[in-house]
Amino acid sequence: MVKPLNIVVLTGAGISADSGVDTFRDPDGAWMKNDPAKVATPEGFAEDPARVHAFYNARRAQLPKVDPNPAHFALTRLEEELVKVGGSLTLVTQNVDDLHQRAGSRRVLPIHGLLDHVECTSCGAIHTWAEDLSTDTPCPSCGETTMRPYIVWFGEIPRHFDEVEDAMMEAHLFAAIGTSGAVYPAAGLVSFARERGLPRVELNLDPSDNASLFTDNRYGRASTIVPAWVDELLDA
Ligand code: APR
Repeated sequence: MVKPLNIVVLTGAGISADSGVDTFRDPDGAWMKNDPAKVATPEGFAEDPARVHAFYNARRAQLPKVDPNPAHFALTRLEEELVKVGGSLTLVTQNVDDLHQRAGSRRVLPIHGLLDHVECTSCGAIHTWAEDLSTDTPCPSCGETTMRPYIVWFGEIPRHFDEVEDAMMEAHLFAAIGTSGAVYPAAGLVSFARERGLPRVELNLDPSDNASLFTDNRYGRASTIVPAWVDELLDA
């Protein structure tokens, strides 16, 4: 029977790798094939919006072709069991795919945005979006052709960090899954957890940049090691 713990889990592209979604910094990752400055910054979008739309259109089109893997489902199971006993799981994800949501996770904070949403820079409306987007696509709300991917680009402020910090203040355990620890402020959460004296577990294919900051390090494919970790927590 799991204890009524509050757990904060940070996920990165590595948790979706076993679903067939590219990571960013692995040898075959997205940043090995595209220059992030050109496709993932406001400056890149201003310089060549069609190039940025093509990058996100290709990733958005992939969403229906991939499915959650056992790591995503294990986190859903953990959340359900924790909530049953008055605990919580706050899932802070850097991923912009919809796999946590499709696996049934409820409390998900998508701090880097959502691939299946777009935002109008004229009226501010946010729309769910499954199709391609271009510089000719009219906003369903205001009609202007000024929509952009609902993605937090380099140099922009990640979302939901008030809620993230609140969850970290209430947490009993912090875990990072499938992230290289390369991008802040997400990569700083393990230090926040350390300042609070929390147990800190890293579950990853290889040691991240932050590996030494964790109290428990487990390496392997997320679809294997995350369900095993959840089983251990639930049998505790
Ligand atoms: N199982 C577990 N971990 C894996 C697997 C796997 N099957 N495959 C890869 N990994 C690990 C890699 O070892 C690496 O440490 O996942 C991590 C992926 O790191 P990145 O590609 O840097 O992705 P991420 O950490 O999510 O990047 C953070 O950077 O580019 C920005 O906004 C983008 O959200 C992204 C952020």
